[in-house]
Amino acid sequence: MKIQDFKLKKEKNQKISMITCYDYSFAKILNSTNIDAILVGDSAAMVMHGESSTLNISTSQLAQHVKSVVRGAPQKIVIADMPFLSYRKGLRAAMEAVEKLMKAGAHAVKLEGASGHLEIVKHIVESGVPVMGHLGLTPQSVHALGGFKVQGRLPEEFKKIVEDAKLLEQAGCFSIVLECVPKKLAATITQNLKIPTIGIGAGVDVDGQVLVLQDMLGMNSEFKPKFLRYYLNGFDHIQKAINEYHADVLENAFPNDNESYS
Ligand code: KIV
Repeated sequence: MKIQDFKLKKEKNQKISMITCYDYSFAKILNSTNIDAILVGDSAAMVMHGESSTLNISTSQLAQHVKSVVRGAPQKIVIADMPFLSYRKGLRAAMEAVEKLMKAGAHAVKLEGASGHLEIVKHIVESGVPVMGHLGLTPQSVHALGGFKVQGRLPEEFKKIVEDAKLLEQAGCFSIVLECVPKKLAATITQNLKIPTIGIGAGVDVDGQVLVLQDMLGMNSEFKPKFLRYYLNGFDHIQKAINEYHADVLENAFPNDNESYS
C-alpha cells in the first residue's frame, strides 16, 4: 500500500484498514497481517505512557516510536502524528517536527483540525510530505472541547466540520480521519470528498476504519466506549499467562529439564 493507493481504493470502493502501533514487537505482528496502514498516534501518550490526554508527548518521543515501528513493519505504510502544538508555532517549528518524524522513517504525517494551519498543511504537502487530516473529536483540543465527546451534533458544528474537510482536501491532504462524529456527518463528508475518510467512532459509511491497537485487543478492560469492539480479551489472557508463570515458579514447575542447560 502506497499513499496513492488511498485515493485509488476509494475510487474502487475498497475499504482501508488502519491501526495504531508504537513499538517493535507489535509492529512485527502487524507486518505479517493484511492491515493496510499503521498510525503511530499521539495516543502513545495515553496507551504507552499512562498520560490522561495526548498533550504530553514530544516530537522526539514520537520519532522514537516511529523508528521502532518502521523497524518492525518494513512492508507497511507508517503515518506519524504531529504532537500537540508542534504545527501551531509557525512554519519553521512545524517543518522541524515534520523533518524529525520523516527522518525517523514515517511515510506521512497526520495533524488535527484545519482553522489556522491550512497554509502549513499546504507547505508540508508542497515539500513532498503527504498529510492526513483529523477532524471531529480532535483529542489535542480536549480541554477546549470540554472532554472526549462526540462532535458535530449541533447544526453549526456539523457545517463547520463539513467545510473543514473540504478545506483540508483543497490544501492537499491525502486522507482525513473522522473521530467520534455522528454517522450522518461522516457519510456526508465521505460523499463530498475525493480523498478517503478513515473513521473511528464515525459509523460504517466512511472509506476506512482506524482503531487503537491496545483498545481493540482489550488490553484495558476499563476502556470500552460505544464505538469500540474488542477483538481479543487481551487483559484477561495476559493476566492468566502471568499468573500461570507465577504459580509454576512457586511450585518448581518452571523451568523443567528441557528448559535447563546440561
Ligand atoms: O492518536 C491516535 O491514535 C489517533 C487515532 C485515534 C486516530 O489519532
